[in-house]
Amino acid sequence: MTLYLIGLGLYDEKDITLRGLEAIKKCSQVFLEYYTSRLACDVEKLEELYGVKIKIADRDLVEKKAEKEIIEPAIDGNVAFLIIGDPFAATTHIDIRLRAKEHDVDVVVIHTSSIITAIGEVGLELYKYGKITSIPFENDNITTPINVLKANQEAGLHTLFLLDLDPLKNKFMSIGEAATYLKRKGVDENILCIGCAGIGSQKAQVKIRKLKDMVNEPFTRYPQCMIIPGNLHFMEEEALESWR
Ligand SMILES: C[S@@+](CC[C@H](N)C(=O)[O-])C[C@H]1O[C@@H](n2cnc3c(N)ncnc32)[C@H](O)[C@@H]1O
Repeated sequence: MTLYLIGLGLYDEKDITLRGLEAIKKCSQVFLEYYTSRLACDVEKLEELYGVKIKIADRDLVEKKAEKEIIEPAIDGNVAFLIIGDPFAATTHIDIRLRAKEHDVDVVVIHTSSIITAIGEVGLELYKYGKITSIPFENDNITTPINVLKANQEAGLHTLFLLDLDPLKNKFMSIGEAATYLKRKGVDENILCIGCAGIGSQKAQVKIRKLKDMVNEPFTRYPQCMIIPGNLHFMEEEALESWR
């Protein structure tokens, strides 16, 4: 039978595609991957609209027990694995697809919006972003985001920073914490940054500040991410002006 990897989009229960919803209705088991991002609605809202019971899949279940819990049930039945955002954007679910193939389970992927594409709303050209990097909660000895920033800056490219989160503990890194980390690691405090919170919602927050001012800039929506722009085309400058 089939394992459906279904993207849920960025905001609430209504961001799923019709194709995704139809697939869920064919499934006897539905899992929600709930450790790499979060929606602005409760799981109950998803269950209500999709008409199914949803099992929460934490990192432990996905990384250590997926074979038994998710893939084996898909040998004789249809199983849905729901992913917030797009199934293959800034997540590691390629592993589940490969392991399902080993068990001769058909895999159907249903894509939807992702932070990796929705960030285009800010107005910087997507093809002018360099490597994306993540800032973890425990970051005292972490230098990868700084190295990625430097390499992107040398190439004149924009840098997107994804910020750590632990939705099951309701813990999210804020833009202010990310700015504090970058400042502490020696990034020029006068560099322009773009803070983005709740992209995909009707009230997304996009603010442009110097790094030193971003440290204390309040954002009320989650999840959050941050951009340090590279070289700007005049259309990109105009787009950024529209947020001021
Ligand atoms: C590991 S990525 C998961 C991406 C997801 N699979 C997708 O396609 O959007 C999660 C990180 O992306 C950023 N992010 C996700 N959704 C966001 C949103 N709606 N607004 C701002 N940042 C977001 C946050 O930094 C968050 O910690």
